[in-house]
Amino acid sequence: MSFEIKPPEYIYKIEPYIPGKPIEEVERERGLKDIVKLASNENPLGPSPYAVKAIRTHLKNLNRYPDGSGFYLKKDLSEYFKLKQDNFILGNGSNELIDIAVRTFCYKDENIIAPFPSFVAYYLAAEQLGIKLKISNLLPDYKLDLDSMLTLIDDKTKIIFVSNPNNPTGTFYKAKEILKFINNIKKDILVIIDEAYIEYISGESILDLISLKEYSNILVLRTFSKAYGLAGLRIGYGIACNELLSLMDRGREPFNVNSLGLEAGRAALKDKEFIKKVIDSNEAEKKYLYNAFKMLNINYVETGANFILVDLKDKKAVDINEKLLNKGVIVRPMNRFGYENMLRITVGKHNENLKLITALKEVI
Ligand SMILES: Cc1ncc(COP(=O)(O)O)c(C=O)c1O
Repeated sequence: MSFEIKPPEYIYKIEPYIPGKPIEEVERERGLKDIVKLASNENPLGPSPYAVKAIRTHLKNLNRYPDGSGFYLKKDLSEYFKLKQDNFILGNGSNELIDIAVRTFCYKDENIIAPFPSFVAYYLAAEQLGIKLKISNLLPDYKLDLDSMLTLIDDKTKIIFVSNPNNPTGTFYKAKEILKFINNIKKDILVIIDEAYIEYISGESILDLISLKEYSNILVLRTFSKAYGLAGLRIGYGIACNELLSLMDRGREPFNVNSLGLEAGRAALKDKEFIKKVIDSNEAEKKYLYNAFKMLNINYVETGANFILVDLKDKKAVDINEKLLNKGVIVRPMNRFGYENMLRITVGKHNENLKLITALKEVI
């Protein structure tokens, strides 16, 4: 059989995203039980119980299409943030909003500035449309190099991505530093502030979304996938001025968010008790892991999120990863980002972290 359908040249250049294998498959392949997955920055405490209850109630309506406008979730979000309903856009995960923004605003001959290493979806969104990426390497302390990002701007720059906190480093800037950066950027460039993990850091670091009302070129992205524990439902949201969002609305599918996601998002937003539990547990377990890493003489980058980047010094991350897998612990080696000796480890529940540390002790 000959295959003769030719995509544009840039499609051949995309390095496909390689998702991890399902836990059950790793268990089967390696003859293991009770594998601990600390690889995808998921919430170890499960989904918000309010969300689970809301989903159950809504199951009987699955014959209906979802509300394509996301009316009630936007209404709840607008009350929560004290903004207008038309300051919100909903996505099939915040990942979809990244794609929609790039699709909506970029001409083929324009460019996008993104930090590296950072969230792969920024690179994919550009590469899938053949749009040039200008990469800004991180500073030696693994923080985004905001000054270098500014110097990369040229008259063809359309979008700048800022991941705050950054994945995979967990580093972040305070709101006032982000605002200073934004103030140096012309209004015809869209700055996307990706706050997927923002719930994990303290109040002073959270951007004052109200003050952003004055900015017409800022899109803040948030998600229910992390602190709210709803990654499997794919629900995220963007906050911006209505002019910007009404353009993005043209670039999205009419029913891009599923009805269970809409209901779960509404319920999770009200689940204050669960969010507190999640943040408290992450804080306590983060400290436990920091101490354990110190004892094992492993360097780590202080994180503002639910994962930690660790430096194994002279040990190769792929080798340690393989050995950890054999002991039933899945983490993420960072060699794909050029960090040959680093692993990204999601903060788990205490028993999961104990298993990780025991396994690390044995393999290092
Ligand atoms: C920095 C960052 N942004 C956005 C996302 C996407 O989250 P979702 O599409 O699940 O909302 C992730 C997921 O890992 C992430 O790490």
